[in-house]
Amino acid sequence: MRENHPIRLGVNIDHVATIRNARGGMHPDLIKAALLAAEAGADGITAHLREDRRHIRDNDILQLMKESKLPLNLEMAATKEMLAIALKTKPNAVCIVPEKRQEVTTEGGLNVLSNKKLLQNYARQLKDAGIRVSLFIDPMKEQIEAAREVGADIVELHTGKYCEEVNIAQAKELKKIHDAAIYATSLGLECHAGHGLTFDTVSSIAHIPEIVELNIGHFLVGEAVFMGLADAIRKMKKLMQAARA
Ligand code: PXP
Repeated sequence: MRENHPIRLGVNIDHVATIRNARGGMHPDLIKAALLAAEAGADGITAHLREDRRHIRDNDILQLMKESKLPLNLEMAATKEMLAIALKTKPNAVCIVPEKRQEVTTEGGLNVLSNKKLLQNYARQLKDAGIRVSLFIDPMKEQIEAAREVGADIVELHTGKYCEEVNIAQAKELKKIHDAAIYATSLGLECHAGHGLTFDTVSSIAHIPEIVELNIGHFLVGEAVFMGLADAIRKMKKLMQAARA
């Protein structure tokens, strides 16, 4: 039997920043959200510094790292600008994501296979600075193999399609994620997952023993409107742990 690793919850606080930015002030406070997340059982904070700075901004990074005791997983595109920011701020991990300026959210995983050279060079510089490197990919064998070749420590499997589907199509997506998680782990990669997860979709993903971390944002911040951020995080973590047990 495979060993059952505990599962961590990374809370993505991008949309706390989106609400803050809507009025240009400091409310709701990102640091307060990160501290609350820690109290409610989050194991890490995730935030995406986008080229257009639509949610977190440059000075949020150092402040988050100073005030929050949780490890920061900084999502970013593989650009020169972002590399310089990561090397300067040194978050615990960088998750490289594809980024298109006009998209509403990250659409699909990174094409590691077609960008091996660039990503290898990028990953090496991050790793030399002591930063863990994660690649956000679709659950595909060839992308996992490419991720290992470029020297990633972690693959984060995109759960967006699984969350959008229902019935048989959803079961098919779940199997793809499960197979990918087994394969990634067999190649020595740490396996994370995320995107679009809700109270209804989290359990089947958390049940996969090879997945050791889930990154969840939009649903938690949305649900905070109804039940408060801390209670939403507590409920999510409880569902994850129950699925794992
Ligand atoms: N993981 C990655 C790599 C992402 O880009 C995002 C969205 O920023 C998430 C997880 C969280 O997705 P959601 O906000 O839909 O929970």
